[in-house]
Parts: sequence; structure tokens; C-alpha cells
Amino acid sequence: MSLAAKYPEEVKAIFAKYPVKRSAVMPLLYLAQREDGFITKQAMADIATMLHLDTTEVASIVGFYSLYHDQQAGKYRMQVCNDLPCALRGADKFLESLCQNLGVKIGETSADGLVTVEAVMCLAACDKAPMFQMQAGDKVTYHENMTVDRTLELVNALRASGLPSEVKP
Ligand code: FES
Repeated sequence: MSLAAKYPEEVKAIFAKYPVKRSAVMPLLYLAQREDGFITKQAMADIATMLHLDTTEVASIVGFYSLYHDQQAGKYRMQVCNDLPCALRGADKFLESLCQNLGVKIGETSADGLVTVEAVMCLAACDKAPMFQMQAGDKVTYHENMTVDRTLELVNALRASGLPSEVKP
């Protein structure tokens, strides 16, 4: 079912806010992602049609922003920045070791479905690497100057609580 058919009132309200149709792309993507936590190819095509855009343009927006997703994930998305400034502070090593400890490759989800580890571009905390943002639904927390041990403690705490963490670095 198309986004407009599924959420007619919300889509109408979004369009009412933007005199230029294509400007509605971000809230429409948010709407598409709200239900399943990621945006399907069909939803991207649907949004592209509504806004008279190319599907590739919509997909490139999804790909650019770390808060939009085109793949299903575990309960938590752990997005580690390994862009150059963070890499210079050990982010790649951190990411590799973290993945090893969790038994996943980048982009994969832990066997219990709890955490998906992703590598992302700059998150504006370049001097605080290794760092990552953790997403669970609409909730995002930031974790800076992390070590693998402290990150695994955080994962274990999440496993125990099942709730988004407020753990601070
Ligand atoms: S390069 Fe990693 S936060 Fe900026």
C-alpha cells in the first residue's frame, strides 16, 4: 500500500507545510521509516513518484543521513564513526575489535538481534573518537571516548535491561 493510501491525513498535512513539493522529502521519509525502522525500496519509489523525483535521488538522501535506514536492523543501531579524523584516533581498530567481540561484521546484527553495528561518516565529535551514536526508535544517545570494554559493558547492560541506555562516557 502506498504511503499516501496508508497515511492520507499525515501526507496531506506534510504537503500543506511545503509550497514546493520536493521539500517534503525528509518528513515523508521519516513517515515511511516510522513503522518498521527502515525505508523499503518500494517506499522510496513511492515518495519519488509523489515528489516527481528520481528514485535514485531519494535513495541518495537516505544514504547520506545516518538517521535514515534502508535495511532492517536489530533493536539498537550502533553507528561508529570511522571517518578520517576518527580513524586517526583509532576508530577503525575500535570497530574491528568491537565487531570481533560481538561476532558480527560491519552492517550485521548480533545473533540475539540486539545490536547492529554500522560504520558511518562524521558525527561532529571528531576529537572524541572512538565514538558512536546509538539509535533505538526515535531515541539517539551519543557515546564518546569509548573503549571496546566499556562498549561491551553498555551492550550487556542493554541486553539486561532491554531499554535505551543513558550511559554516558
Ligand atoms: S570524523 Fe568522526 S565524528 Fe567527525
